[in-house]
Amino acid sequence: MNHTLKDKVIVITGASSGIGEASARLVGAEQAKVAVVARRKDRLDKLAEEITQAGGQALAIEADVADKNTCQAIVKQVIDKWGRLDVLVNNAGVMLLGPVIGAPLEEWEQMVQVNVMGLLYLTHAALPVMKQQKSGHIVNISSVAGRTTRSGSAVYNATKWGVCAFTDALRQELAEGKTGIRTTLIEPGAVATELISHNRPDIQEQLNQRFTGIAKLTSEDIAAGIAYAISQPEHVSVNEVLIRPSGQVG
Ligand SMILES: NC(=O)c1ccc[n+]([C@@H]2O[C@H](COP(=O)([O-])OP(=O)(O)OC[C@H]3O[C@@H](n4cnc5c(N)ncnc54)[C@H](OP(=O)(O)O)[C@@H]3O)[C@@H](O)[C@H]2O)c1
Repeated sequence: MNHTLKDKVIVITGASSGIGEASARLVGAEQAKVAVVARRKDRLDKLAEEITQAGGQALAIEADVADKNTCQAIVKQVIDKWGRLDVLVNNAGVMLLGPVIGAPLEEWEQMVQVNVMGLLYLTHAALPVMKQQKSGHIVNISSVAGRTTRSGSAVYNATKWGVCAFTDALRQELAEGKTGIRTTLIEPGAVATELISHNRPDIQEQLNQRFTGIAKLTSEDIAAGIAYAISQPEHVSVNEVLIRPSGQVG
């Protein structure tokens, strides 16, 4: 039987759209206390209001996870409000694809800063709190792109493979130390969100062609995978959840 999420304090980054938004809505409906983090404050406020109206508890935190001091401040704000931190969902991410040769370096910097450094900064800020609690759960959103590679996806691949490697090494450290802290790596295939829309138009066109005729996953499909992983009893550590659309090959 699954354990309840009621009163669990859950931080979700990248909650202003897509997978993060759907996950916040789901855990909010399960009576968790959910802190929603992203840069677009208007969307976070709307989501927090919706969760509260439905009887849940939510805190909207406008933040850029690429900044290490900001990540420390996020954790502090959550502890000041709710006194603990049970689950950190490192979901914020960007996917800016294209050939390596001639790529705008700013795109690479943004992906590394958000997908890797933001996740590391927040994990670093959250772990001492979880260690003291002797319980906690770090959920990192990687991708099928963190398990496979593809021409035109080299740097996004590098960030998501990095997330995969970090999460498993961290899992071992936390288990060795008998910390009571669990880790889960979530690896979605193609999900219908805004993610593609930040790419240059020719890249968007290529991506749309690649998935023509394939029913993509919804954000709610991935939210359900996250909820499954964080609802298990303490002795169960769901280390990886890889979810592809049924029609996705690679
Ligand atoms: N969609 C897919 O097919 C797919 C597949 C595999 C993995 N994923 C992964 O799933 C995660 C969520 O993506 P999504 O598909 O839900 O895309 P999305 O709708 O574009 O969501 C991305 C979220 O990240 C936030 N974000 C971006 N930069 C940020 C920053 N510097 N600081 C704080 N928040 C930031 C965005 O909010 P603001 O712009 O408001 O800051 C947004 O809420 C990403 O890690 C992505 O790599 C997605």
